[in-house]
Amino acid sequence: MSSGMWAEKYRPKALDEMWNQTEIVSRLKSFVKDRNLPHLLFVGPAGTGKTTSILALARDLYGPAYQNYTLELNASDERGINVIREKVKNFARTAAIASEVQFKILIMDEADSLTSAAQHALRRTMEIYTRTCRFVLIGNYSENIIEPIQSRCSVFRFGPLGEEDAKGWIKHIADNEKLNLLPEGLEAIYEASTGDLRKATNLLQAAAATQSGEIDDVTIYSVLGRVSPGRVRELINLGLKGQFMEAREVLRGLLIDEGLAADDIIRLIYSEVLRLNIPERYKVRLSDTIGEIDYRLTQGARAEIQLSTLVAKLVIIGEEING
Ligand SMILES: Nc1ncnc2c1ncn2[C@@H]1O[C@H](COP(=O)(O)OP(=O)(O)OP(=O)(O)O)[C@@H](O)[C@H]1O
Ligand SMILES: [Mg+2]
Repeated sequence: MSSGMWAEKYRPKALDEMWNQTEIVSRLKSFVKDRNLPHLLFVGPAGTGKTTSILALARDLYGPAYQNYTLELNASDERGINVIREKVKNFARTAAIASEVQFKILIMDEADSLTSAAQHALRRTMEIYTRTCRFVLIGNYSENIIEPIQSRCSVFRFGPLGEEDAKGWIKHIADNEKLNLLPEGLEAIYEASTGDLRKATNLLQAAAATQSGEIDDVTIYSVLGRVSPGRVRELINLGLKGQFMEAREVLRGLLIDEGLAADDIIRLIYSEVLRLNIPERYKVRLSDTIGEIDYRLTQGARAEIQLSTLVAKLVIIGEEING
């Protein structure tokens, strides 16, 4: 397992290495082929490849020295539009002489955080330097970008990656890092990150750092600081099936191996019980018991004994349901 941020390590270096976003990638590739570029506006949720794809385009266009011809500014870091204008001026006033492409690329991240007055000033700057500089504005929502800027840009909308691609990406990194990622672990990462590949990558890296063996859903939930609902569901089902000892084992695992707090467990049991597919009157009785145990726990009663009482109650009710 290697160190350093995996989100950087695995960031695609060329447009051809991007995952999905196929329509966007093919439009961007045609710009590279033509060696020309309009001003661009990239919008979409976090971790979907906006920054990655413009940097990949710059590499494809200028080659390894691409950094000489690109400038990345973060609108929310810069102190006001005057600072931005000054930086843009210094960067854009000289043409990209050493390159066969005549213009440079200015990337303005979080452009949607600029006030509308600042955006109007930016628009004028874009016009002044349009011969020597292309602007790539990036943001989460196009609604926050003023119309005169939108109409001067080709707009690209990045959607979150679909399940198959997102899972494929996670597996690709897990394989490369030689991790033992189980299907439940993969599922948990996907559920927690839904199409945000940065979040997925960071989650996998954090899990790998805490767990040298198999990475499953429990590993992921503990990285997320959440109780695994799957384990709690298992506990309830074992109880209802009358498997008292097995249910208690799961409970001990949650309390001791995972170090969860009893009141977190009881809260989760409560929400899972409400979702159970059993007659209402049994839910009422279970809720009553849960309330009582919750109270006793706040009074300092021993967590394991109290939660075992709850498991016993599940067994009794399970017998009645099946009886
Ligand atoms: N379509 C994609 N193909 C390959 N990697 C991707 C893709 N989308 C995101 N990633 C990965 O996720 C990480 C974050 O991507 P990127 O910086 O491009 O996100 P972003 O869309 O700019 O998000 P933000 O709005 O938070 O800046 C990178 O490590 C990158 O490797
Ligand atoms: Mg970005």
